[in-house]
Amino acid sequence: MSETHHPPKLANAKLPTNVSKLVDEAKSLYKSKLAHLAETHKPPAFIVCAPGRVNLIGEHTDYNDGYCLPMAIDYQVVAYGTGFVHTGKGSGPTTIRLRMISSQKNDGDDIVEERKLAVNALTPPDETTPKSWTNYVVGTIVQYVPDLPHEGCTLDLAIAFASDVPIGAGLSSSAALETATATFLECFMHDMAFSATSSGNIQRERAIRCQKAENEWALSPCGIMDQYVSSAAEKNNCMLLDCQSLEITQIPFKQAEDTPAIVVANSNVAHEIADGEYGKRRRECADAVATMQNVPLYHVLSLRDANLQDCEDAKDKMGDVIYRRAKHVVTENKRVLECKTALKMGLWDRVGALMNDSHASLKDDFDVSCEEVDLLVETAQKVEGVYGSRITGGGFGGCTITLVKKDKVEKLTEALKGAYKAKYDKECDVFVTTASAGARVLAVDVDCKPH
Ligand code: GLA
Repeated sequence: MSETHHPPKLANAKLPTNVSKLVDEAKSLYKSKLAHLAETHKPPAFIVCAPGRVNLIGEHTDYNDGYCLPMAIDYQVVAYGTGFVHTGKGSGPTTIRLRMISSQKNDGDDIVEERKLAVNALTPPDETTPKSWTNYVVGTIVQYVPDLPHEGCTLDLAIAFASDVPIGAGLSSSAALETATATFLECFMHDMAFSATSSGNIQRERAIRCQKAENEWALSPCGIMDQYVSSAAEKNNCMLLDCQSLEITQIPFKQAEDTPAIVVANSNVAHEIADGEYGKRRRECADAVATMQNVPLYHVLSLRDANLQDCEDAKDKMGDVIYRRAKHVVTENKRVLECKTALKMGLWDRVGALMNDSHASLKDDFDVSCEEVDLLVETAQKVEGVYGSRITGGGFGGCTITLVKKDKVEKLTEALKGAYKAKYDKECDVFVTTASAGARVLAVDVDCKPH
């Protein structure tokens, strides 16, 4: 269990500049748009944040019970707001009332979204549920209803969100929103939070709940990597996640003179995992397992259990496409474990080579890259001082991750921007990130009354 944590008062909280800017933004949205609506709420306001992520290696392995090695980035969703949970003694459905606003989603219109629901345990969305960013929030809150001591409770929250995680870039803006929502709600539930689960592993349980919110309320069939790393990442560490046991091991991203910079380039080609292709890849992996079992290879319950020989043995029965999907997952799992060792030993050339192999496998065998992203990867791989580069995240657009010697960041940035502009007459965004911390309570603020 986590130790008791007393958040600092906002005025005394030492926050990094980028986070403090988001806190100011969320606070000002709350004060101008929500505070007068939430007058039954008592101070303090809670302020939490949850990061987006970039995956170093281990792509499309999470839903195959495999391994991945993501890290949190220094871009996050901040939630600022007030609320209460009344347990009462009632019967009948629990009432959830949410008033929320996001700096990122309203195109400057500052629209307060209000959702009021009567729920029983884990009410799933129905067909009348609107397609809206608020579903990520509602879907997450609903996962905590089983923790309430009985029926007929009231849960009332007013939340302002501010975020600098680019949307649709494959950097897990939605997982960050869910994880920030969960962390925020936990501040009001105190010891009630997670009382319906017995594991005692809060970060893991939070991730499972947030993934469920995304699967059921945003109808996006994602695995657990994004929500888990947003919940449990540690600063200066990559998070090795075993998606079968859901055990994590923090692997230091060693901070030494020769530690490479982590550069992310956004192709600005929209990445949308609710689209059909991601689900199709999941089904193809399931087909691979079913075929292997028919060979019969009885030890293969998921692609995690298979090796290259198993893929070869089942190749004729699987056909080329399914064979290539299976081969990617099997080889990618192996690369993650090798990468873990190389990271521990500070063997950056080896880490880079594994990243390059991962990209080739995602491009040629798993078919989830696109020409814009390939251009970014190929350009990066040719720049002096680059250890390795690959597509990161779900694919079909989105971002690349490159490890490069610190003194070559500028050269790399110029090369990426130049090549992209020359070929597509479009901009790509390039930024440096560090391995950052996961979700946390930043501060409380007693000054949250309307102006
Ligand atoms: C998306 C999903 C993750 C994972 C990656 C691919 O980011 O949300 O669960 O499957 O794609 O590695």
